Amino acid sequence: MKKIRTAILGYGRSGSSMHAGAIEQNDAFEMVAVCDTDPERQEQAAERFGCAIYDDYHRMLEKEQLDLISIITRSDQHCEMTCDCLAAGVHVLVTKPWAVNADEARRMVSASEASGKLLLPWLPARWGCVLQRLQQLIAEKAIGNIFLVRHAVCSFATRCDWQTERRHGGGYLLNWGAHLVDPPVVLMGSPVQSVYGRMKQTINPGDAEDLFLAVMTLTDGTIVQAEYTIAVEDLPSWFIQGDCGTIVVRGQNMTLHKNIPDRPDDPTQFGTMKSAKAETIQEKIEGALYGDEHQIYEEIAQTVRGERTFPIQPAEALELSRIFDAIRTASVENCVVNLTSDGL
Ligand SMILES: NC(=O)c1ccc[n+]([C@@H]2O[C@H](COP(=O)([O-])OP(=O)(O)OC[C@H]3O[C@@H](n4cnc5c(N)ncnc54)[C@H](O)[C@@H]3O)[C@@H](O)[C@H]2O)c1
Repeated sequence: MKKIRTAILGYGRSGSSMHAGAIEQNDAFEMVAVCDTDPERQEQAAERFGCAIYDDYHRMLEKEQLDLISIITRSDQHCEMTCDCLAAGVHVLVTKPWAVNADEARRMVSASEASGKLLLPWLPARWGCVLQRLQQLIAEKAIGNIFLVRHAVCSFATRCDWQTERRHGGGYLLNWGAHLVDPPVVLMGSPVQSVYGRMKQTINPGDAEDLFLAVMTLTDGTIVQAEYTIAVEDLPSWFIQGDCGTIVVRGQNMTLHKNIPDRPDDPTQFGTMKSAKAETIQEKIEGALYGDEHQIYEEIAQTVRGERTFPIQPAEALELSRIFDAIRTASVENCVVNLTSDGL
């Protein structure tokens, strides 16, 4: 079968590891070129792949016949690069956050439509083992009807790279939102109706937030809280409340409390909080927490060959950009932001 002629644009921390590794180890792809402005990165890529190396992606687009480009540069660079690559007739995979705001996301979607080329958003947490196990449990109503879902990451680590600077698309809402805001919304499968958010810079240098908290109300009435926070001790990564129990996840260890509350025969009495039918199940969820890049690239290969539809459509990633914009607006203006469905 003809190989997918592939290039990486941005061979940094993520491009050289997660993406290069998945492309390298999948026979469907041929690494034809790598583009990075850093001479050290260029040297590393040349040594590893023996492929063409560029410091200017416009030149790479002129010179190479490419089927697919994976864009893994700084977040503020994604939109322009994506639009240029699509206009040059190449399918594009773009890492998260695919755009710094919804206006950029709309431009990228339009560029894809105009070119007829694929625009593949990288949202690896959708392949995450915990999310997929939770999706099964929610579908089978293991804890009844869900009314509140919390998803959190805690860390006390600082960083001092471009991710601390707003002008480069830094900040933890954009950096972590794909892993924290998107999964609980996908889990419940209901669109976001309104958003309240807080963002704060606490321990990092630069001018971007290193903490965010978003409270979202979904169209079906479920409340979702997503946060990245700075703390020495961990919160549960998931805390899901239903009318027949509670699910608590720490890392990949899940505790499932099933508890159908007793209804007293005498309506003037309180029901007991813990029924005789209560049971607690512990489970270790195996797999990749934020998705297996090899599996995702296999699905990308099948999509590029026209054998399947990519599971994430650009409209879904655009909706996520709109949610991020709403969280930011809510935080800056200290208000609840309603998301209208005609905002695409
Ligand atoms: N789990 C994930 O999906 C995940 C993890 C980490 C990072 N990311 C995302 O990947 C992107 C890159 O993050 P990173 O940590 O690898 O950053 P990085 O700074 O390590 O890498 C960016 C690379 O782009 C190169 N570059 C800059 N300008 C360029 C240009 N004009 N042309 C070509 N190359 C250029 C830089 O030299 C650098 O090597 C970010 O958007 C980040 O959010 C995703």
